Amino acid sequence: MCGIIGYIGKRDAAPILMEGLHRLEYRGYDSAGIAVAHAGELRLAKCKGRVRELEKLLPARFKGAPGIAHTRWATHGEPSDRNAHPHCDGANRIAVIHNGIIENAVALRARLESAGVVFRSETDSEVLAHLIAAMPERALDAAVRAALRLVTGTYGLAVLDAARPEAIVVARNGSPVVLGVGEREMFVASDAAALVRHTRRVVYLDDGEVALVRADGYETATLDGGPTAKTPSTITWTNEAFDKGEYEHFMRKEIAEQPEVVARTLSGRLEPRFQTTHLGGIEFAAHELLDIRRVKILGCGSAYIAGAIGAHLIEQLARLPAHAEPASEFRYRNPVIERDTLYIAVSQSGETFDTLAAVQEVKRKGGRVLGIVNVVGSTIARECGRGIYLHAGPEIAVVSTKTFTCTAVAFALLAIHLGRIRDLSTAAGGRLLTALAALPEQIDGIIAREAEIARFAERLALCEHAYFVGRSAGYAVAMEGALKLKEVSYLHAEAYSAAELKHGPLALISPETPTIAVIPRDDLYPKNLLTIEEIRARRGPVFAVTHAGEVLATADAMFDVPRSEPELDPILLNIPLQLLAYHVALKRGCDIDKPRNLAKSVTVE
Ligand code: AGP
Repeated sequence: MCGIIGYIGKRDAAPILMEGLHRLEYRGYDSAGIAVAHAGELRLAKCKGRVRELEKLLPARFKGAPGIAHTRWATHGEPSDRNAHPHCDGANRIAVIHNGIIENAVALRARLESAGVVFRSETDSEVLAHLIAAMPERALDAAVRAALRLVTGTYGLAVLDAARPEAIVVARNGSPVVLGVGEREMFVASDAAALVRHTRRVVYLDDGEVALVRADGYETATLDGGPTAKTPSTITWTNEAFDKGEYEHFMRKEIAEQPEVVARTLSGRLEPRFQTTHLGGIEFAAHELLDIRRVKILGCGSAYIAGAIGAHLIEQLARLPAHAEPASEFRYRNPVIERDTLYIAVSQSGETFDTLAAVQEVKRKGGRVLGIVNVVGSTIARECGRGIYLHAGPEIAVVSTKTFTCTAVAFALLAIHLGRIRDLSTAAGGRLLTALAALPEQIDGIIAREAEIARFAERLALCEHAYFVGRSAGYAVAMEGALKLKEVSYLHAEAYSAAELKHGPLALISPETPTIAVIPRDDLYPKNLLTIEEIRARRGPVFAVTHAGEVLATADAMFDVPRSEPELDPILLNIPLQLLAYHVALKRGCDIDKPRNLAKSVTVE
């Protein structure tokens, strides 16, 4: 989604801002723009399209500081040059970049237009520039605060006034803003990824905070002007983590990183002495965990699907009723929140609006919630206050791969923990710990056999439709496989529970519609073989992702996945499907790291 970067200091802003925009590209966007202050005037460039298009527009002498820059993901108004940010007031003095949605923009616009203001775009964001300019307050931060008191909606914004270039002002309500503290220079961004090249010291704004950012420091306050105290934290991610290195795409790099990052998710959390796991961040005492009667998991997209695997693990290992639900649906059905239910919010970015809103709904009603999050210090992590960090490093490709796998691993750790407090025996705990420790090497082994999957991808790339089927936790793996394939390759893919196939979808099976069948060698194995027979009887090609066996004779092609413990098999079965999506997208010439219409972190409703 939209990205913000800003700079104030002695250096020229433009090179820093353009580099920052490149860092933010992974979030997904459709236009970009930049504004710098120079000799009391604003210099502005913006256009529809990629950051490299914007680069071409910039004159060689685009000098000045401070400056702000933006990547926009259209909500109000089509992607176009004039709808791109920054937006300016009528005098072209104040420039605003904004992430989020101004809900009362129509009313504010009418009010400003009746006062003679002429609008130049169709965006909701433009009202902010005119509104700030209309405020009588002399200081920029006071004017921004006064304007924001009239605004309803969500925002992460940065404001630059060419006539008051000694500071930039940023504000946050529902859309992240982080300050980067440098040596006599300061940075602002919507995402710490844009700052790591310059500084590791960051300050996360909270909702309802406004910051006045000068080259030599910052002050934060509430909308009413009451000062707030902030403590800088340190980002641990390295600059190299944001580079593709030897890989053509971030998606492929992140698939390859899985052995290493799964080992990081596990690191320090296996406790062989008691055949259990150690999860310092969940902060519940054993007796509190024993009081839990149900588990409800909330997340969106891949995070929700990883939650479905998690629910299965918790039900199997801790014998607690567990259920995953899309966070985007949760709060709209006025959910019943129960004292003895543990709510778990899952989010790679920790910024997904719907997941955050679900967490807030649970908390407002007195429920207890913990987060499974990748980005340290992110909004959902802070809102939950307790949970499990994945430690998977930055995930730049829009599609989740390594964080999906690490989330499933984190759920396995939690399920063992909850299980060992209950009825999971020491022998079972020990068996699972051994299997968890073996995962990195097994994943490595699967990735090394990429060529086998690429061969099948060649066939799949020629199709327009595909089914993914599985049963039980295998169904969740099928869901993720289908989501991955449609996201990156634009091939229409649907996931069905294998048992549901004959209740309707079987009608569409044909030689042109292959089925990817996820078949662990568990109790349901014979039933899954039957499903393959049913598909083959309708001349549908089948690619089985399975553990070697009779399937060999039944399917058209298969990929043999190494065995883990049955409860952990879904984690391994998912890896070939990531590679399959990648290779189909490669064959179809798709923009793998930035699929059309998608954003990495969905910070609007
Ligand atoms: C995954 O490939 C998707 N890009 C998407 O479904 C994603 O998982 C979802 O938007 C949730 O994101 P989060 O984990 O950052 O909350």
